Parts: sequence; structure tokens; C-alpha cells
Amino acid sequence: MHAVRVRPLAESETLHYSAALPKSALAPTSRPAPHMSPESIRRIGILTGGGDCPGLNAVIRAVAKTAILQYRIEVLGIEDGFQGLIEDRIRPLSFRDVSGILTRGGTILGTNNRCNPSRWCTGFAAGGTPIFSDVTGTCIDNIRKHRIDALIVIGGDGSMKCAAPFVEAGINVIGIPKTIDNDLYGTEITFGFLTAVNTATEALDRLHSTADSHHRVMVCEVMGRNAGWIALTAGVASGSDMILIPEIPFHESAMEEFIGSRMSGGPGFAIVVVAEGAVAAGGQQTIARFDPTSPDPVRLGGIGERVAEIIRARTKADVRTTALGHVLRGGAPIAADRILATNFGYHALAILLEGARGRLVVRENNVFSDVDLLVSAGRQRLVPTDHALITAARALGTSFGDHEVHRLGTRAQSTTV
Ligand code: F6P
Repeated sequence: MHAVRVRPLAESETLHYSAALPKSALAPTSRPAPHMSPESIRRIGILTGGGDCPGLNAVIRAVAKTAILQYRIEVLGIEDGFQGLIEDRIRPLSFRDVSGILTRGGTILGTNNRCNPSRWCTGFAAGGTPIFSDVTGTCIDNIRKHRIDALIVIGGDGSMKCAAPFVEAGINVIGIPKTIDNDLYGTEITFGFLTAVNTATEALDRLHSTADSHHRVMVCEVMGRNAGWIALTAGVASGSDMILIPEIPFHESAMEEFIGSRMSGGPGFAIVVVAEGAVAAGGQQTIARFDPTSPDPVRLGGIGERVAEIIRARTKADVRTTALGHVLRGGAPIAADRILATNFGYHALAILLEGARGRLVVRENNVFSDVDLLVSAGRQRLVPTDHALITAARALGTSFGDHEVHRLGTRAQSTTV
């Protein structure tokens, strides 16, 4: 497999969390309007969209149990994300169907990260160019046919983007923020992230002991798309020596200096955690493949090997690479994610029954609330470079592959993980 190099996302395509948006967009709505009484919601549909992550089943369980137990609302499960809406694969979910799934990885409904109803691939022209058509209307017909009063969409920025035309067409959609990447704009945390961090941390701990024994540099690539949340958090949790994230472009000379001094004058080994979206200063992200039929056609991957080559060439150290990849998406959610998922699921039902329409459940400063779903649709939240963890890690001597050092008197401004 050859890594292809592409341009990094433009500023307009991604947003730092601090980017200015009208406060009204992120403020909770006042509600309810009279026609949105709890009695008007008799049946909801639920789907999981985008890449899977630990905690999806915990959310499905929380939504369905609350709906069935507290409000006698019927729950319909939509299979394989928005594809099930297009193809009318919709089935009732009973209390029993959602019992015993709290700890199970994946999603009992199936998911899909290649399906956007407003740009659905219906075939290929000669030469392999995909042919797209807008099948939002088909989905809306199916929603009406099944008498679904509200749609619960569990997904990341891509799924919220897919959901936006439904909101605009008058369908009531409530979003729940999912992704291991923790990069959905509007919420300080998404479920699945903490489990991915835990898995990455365990892997980095294991790499630590073998690096020490063999006097090697171990480079570990982790997922995260254009955001460095997983690399940063797992890197700090594992005491990694160097953390490379997309938000802080790395410099080969800084890497040489730092790793060289650890190998010759220091402990004689080093752990480097690299986000898949990490990029050299003035360079471009490394991608593994394109999928033109996917709403997000770029699949990043391969930067770990590239970083290993740089370190090997510049320091002559013995270097090995591990890419954790989809391991981070699999398995049971850790306790913190089960709790987060349960809270998100419960809050989605609570706001729906208060009369919310087109809202995304979020957590902000540890408080659950909701924001306009359209504001988060397709928007990514990157790591602020003044994040508390970066400041703290620099103070402890961790390198971010740049020439910055901790300055005495610097205080972290942003504290959320
Ligand atoms: O968004 C979740 C994520 O796991 C990213 O971290 C990663 O870049 C991407 O999905 C991988 O997607 P796929 O499952 O299509 O390989």
C-alpha cells in the first residue's frame, strides 16, 4: 500500500472549538410549542451512523428503555444507519431486544459510513465514476409510512450532516454525539472516545516495556481523523515521550534533537504516539485510500511509518511501528463511556418529550444540554493548541515535535477532555 499525500483541511472545513459562532446557535432552546406535547410522540426511530464505537448499544438501550418504560413510546430500529431508511429496513425494538446489551461492543442495529441519502451512490458510469442521486424523499416516505414521530440519530459530524436535510424538511431529529475521535463540534465529549483512549493507553504501556528492553523507539499510530484528541489524551495517560497531533505540525529537526538526546544521553528508548492526521510543517496529511462513494472519502493512515522513517534516518535509532487502527473502535465500553452513553440516551428522550426539535444532545462544562443540530452538522472540533493537557505535558518535558518549550508562568486556558 502506498501512502498518498493530500492537502490538509482548509480552515473553513474544520473549526477550532473556540471559533466564534452566534451564542444563540449553541444555547438551549426555550420550549415546548403546544403541538409538541409528550402525547404527540407515539413512535420513534433510532439509527446508528458512521464508524462504530464502544457505547452504541448502551445508547440504544438507554433511549429504548426510557421510551418504553417511562412514556410507552414504541421504538423502531433502523438497520445499517441511513441505508436502512433508504431501503426500508426498519424493525420494532422490544424491551427484551435492548436488555443485556449495555456492555456489548458494536451496534445491534448495524451501521454504515458510506451512506448519505442526499448523495446516495446508485451505480458507476463507464470509467468507474460514481453516480449519485438524492433519495431523501424515499427516506421521508419510509419515515411517514412507519408513522415515526421523531428520529434519533446516533452519530458524528458526518451523520449530523446526513440528518440536516431531514431537519430542514420538517422531520424531528434528535442527535446523540458519537465517535472515538471526540471531534464533533458543539460538545465537549462524545461517547466512545474514553474507551478508545483507554485501549490506546494500554497498548502504549505495553510498547513502553518492550521499547525499554530493546533500547528502541516505538512509534504508535492512532486514529482520530483531523483531530489529535486520542493521541494527546492517550499520550499523556501513558507518559509517551513525543505526541504528534494534526493541530501542531511537526519539524524533523525538533524530532531529531529530542529523540537523539533521549537515545544517547537519556534513558535509551522513546515512545512516540502519532495521530493519523499528523502532518509535517509545510507538508500534507498522509492518506491510505479514497472512497468516492463515502460522505467523507478520505481515509487517513500511514503517517506512523513515515515518522519512523524520519527518526531512523535522522538518529540511526532502531525504530518499530505499530498502527492500532480499528482496534480502538472495537470491544466493550469502559465504565465512563457506559455512563456517558446512558446519560446521552436518557437526555435525548428527555428533551424530545420537552418539545425539542432538530437538537443535538451535548455535554458542556460537565452539564448535559442541547444545541442546534444544524450547527454541528459536518463540523469538526480540533484540539486547541493552548489546551491544558498540552501545556501540562510540555511542562513535564513531553515533545510535540515542534520547537516550543514550556514557559514558566504559562497557565492552561482550556481544561476539557
Ligand atoms: O471516525 C472514526 C474513524 O475510526 C476515524 O478515526 C478513522 O479515520 C475512520 O473512522 C476510519 O474509517 P473506516 O472504518 O472507514 O476505515
